[in-house]
Amino acid sequence: MKISLSVNREPHETEIWPGESLLYALRERLGLPGSKNACEQGECGSCSVLLDGSLVCACLVLAAQADGHDVVTVEGIDGDGQLHPVQEAFAETGAVQCGFCTPGLIVATVDLLARNGEPSDDEIREALSGNLCRCTGYQKIFDAVRLAAGRP
Ligand code: FES
Ligand code: FES
Repeated sequence: MKISLSVNREPHETEIWPGESLLYALRERLGLPGSKNACEQGECGSCSVLLDGSLVCACLVLAAQADGHDVVTVEGIDGDGQLHPVQEAFAETGAVQCGFCTPGLIVATVDLLARNGEPSDDEIREALSGNLCRCTGYQKIFDAVRLAAGRP
C-alpha cells in the first residue's frame, strides 16, 4: 500500500507493507536513520518522534497510521542547518557517549521544553522516564536539559 505523510515539513509518499512500523518506514523507506531501533517494544524511547506534535515511540506506530499525518524526527528539529539549542546543550554537557539513546532524548527534551519552559527536576525525570540510556548515568543528560531550559 502507499502512504502520504509529512516528514520534517516535507511531503513524502512511499510504498509500505501494511504491518510495518513507522520506525521501519522512516529508516528504511525514507532514509532517515536518526530515530534508533533498540528494543522495538516501546521500552527504550530511542525511536521517539513527534506525530502531529505528540511524542510517540515510532516502533509502536504502524506506518499506515501515519498516512496523512505530520511526523518530525530528530533530523527535523534543527533550524536551517544549525544545531537546535537542545542538541547544543547535550554536546556541551557531555551528555552523549555511544549516542544510541541521544536522538530519542533530544526529541523528548524538545517536546518537554515546548510544553514547559521551566520544568522542575521531577518534571524532567517524568518527561524523560521513557528514554533509557546505558552509558551516561543520566546526570549529564539532566544537566543538558537544565542548560537548554535556561536558554532563551
Ligand atoms: S525502539 Fe522504540 S521504544 Fe525502543
Ligand atoms: S549514550 Fe549510550 S545509551 Fe545513552
